[in-house]
Amino acid sequence: MAMKLVGASVWEEELYEHLTSHEENERGFLEKYQNAAESSASAAFGYLCALIVEDEIRHHRVFGELASALKADAELRPEGPAVPRLDHWGPDAPLVVKLTEELLERERTDAKELHRLAADLKNVKDETLWQLLVKLMEMDTAKHIEILEFVKRHARKSLK
Ligand SMILES: [Fe+2]
Ligand SMILES: [Fe+2]
Repeated sequence: MAMKLVGASVWEEELYEHLTSHEENERGFLEKYQNAAESSASAAFGYLCALIVEDEIRHHRVFGELASALKADAELRPEGPAVPRLDHWGPDAPLVVKLTEELLERERTDAKELHRLAADLKNVKDETLWQLLVKLMEMDTAKHIEILEFVKRHARKSLK
């Protein structure tokens, strides 16, 4: 059962309900994966389920943090929320822009290398888990680029 927010708007109430029920959902999902892995007695299936479980643990945590951040905002709590508010990227925004650009460059190089590696592994793609794992890392890299692009775009804006 979701906790009520004090002094929140209807939009905040509904979003809070949404976030907390999703957090519950994620927990159920997590248990399903853990049980599936244990009951299959397949090392390969267990390994892949464990990879998904890592993500689901993070999803569960992030939904909890989103709900808590929304609660902190709705109730006008002064302490720092679990998901930080967008600040102006600290006292040295130009440094953040510079660091982000360097990291982006590395991620882009990494993306190309992973892509080549996945191509190299094409001939074992149905006999091993290897190509799948490299493809998953390509997807992670796309995620890292998305995060860094966000920072770069916003940190640049705060320079003006
Ligand atoms: Fe999830
Ligand atoms: Fe990365």
